[in-house]
Amino acid sequence: MENLDQNRLPKHIAIIMDGNGRWAQEQGQDRLFGHYHGVVSVRKVVEAAAEIGIQYLTLYAFSTENWDRPAEEVAGLMTLFVETIAKEVPDLNKNNIQLQFIGDLSQLPPEARTALDVSTAQTAANTGLKLIIALSYSSRWEIVNAAQILAKRVLDGQLAAEDINEPLFAEALSTKGIPDPELMIRTSGEHRISNFLLFQLAYAELYFTNTRWPDFRKPHLIEAILDYQSRERRFGKTSAQITSNEENK
Ligand code: IPE
Ligand code: IPE
Ligand code: MG
Repeated sequence: MENLDQNRLPKHIAIIMDGNGRWAQEQGQDRLFGHYHGVVSVRKVVEAAAEIGIQYLTLYAFSTENWDRPAEEVAGLMTLFVETIAKEVPDLNKNNIQLQFIGDLSQLPPEARTALDVSTAQTAANTGLKLIIALSYSSRWEIVNAAQILAKRVLDGQLAAEDINEPLFAEALSTKGIPDPELMIRTSGEHRISNFLLFQLAYAELYFTNTRWPDFRKPHLIEAILDYQSRERRFGKTSAQITSNEENK
């Protein structure tokens, strides 16, 4: 942790928590066993992110496509979400962590929605790490939803079509007010985005690790941040432009 450059920490880290099912099956266990162990990783990584000084952490917990998994797995995951969310609130408050959910929450069973609403309200006053859980989330859903919001405003005469620009579009997304992630981590060896934050990740640094999510801990997070800090972020410019800007600082 002492190797981290405090001046170059990402403000926002997004993680695709993948590999729970395979982790469990490799040990001859049911996929849900992996999801239960994945919760331990969530707790450890959230604590580590807060300790390191990360301001926003977005965790991809369940995609809109995940609704098509076998019914027992979906039901098991919903039960796990409800149980975990309620149980974690005291620790979140102790660590000053504010919880928020993004996604098509209207698809969730009523007890899950209640648990989300209660935990969001109970942590709303916290001023430390902002923990964003993407649940029943997909980026294409979010982008289409944003298009509908803006189209309605145009129809209502509140907005002119030609005034729609990138900041205004970003405000119609569920991540309104949240800066774009500088670093996106995916565990378990898959090299894809799987419908996660397509708009927001435009210039994120991508980090892939073979570690399965249930094995992911603070040292893995630090390793990912160190890798991020070793990269040159050019945003379309040349390396020489970036270097001379840094020298002029
Ligand atoms: C990620 O682990 C958790 C969810 C998508 C809910 P997976 O369940 O996708 O695990 P693998 O990828 O099948 O191993
Ligand atoms: C992405 O993982 C969604 C979450 C981690 C919640 P998946 O396991 O569903 O993604 P694919 O199917 O491998 O692309
Ligand atoms: Mg997976």
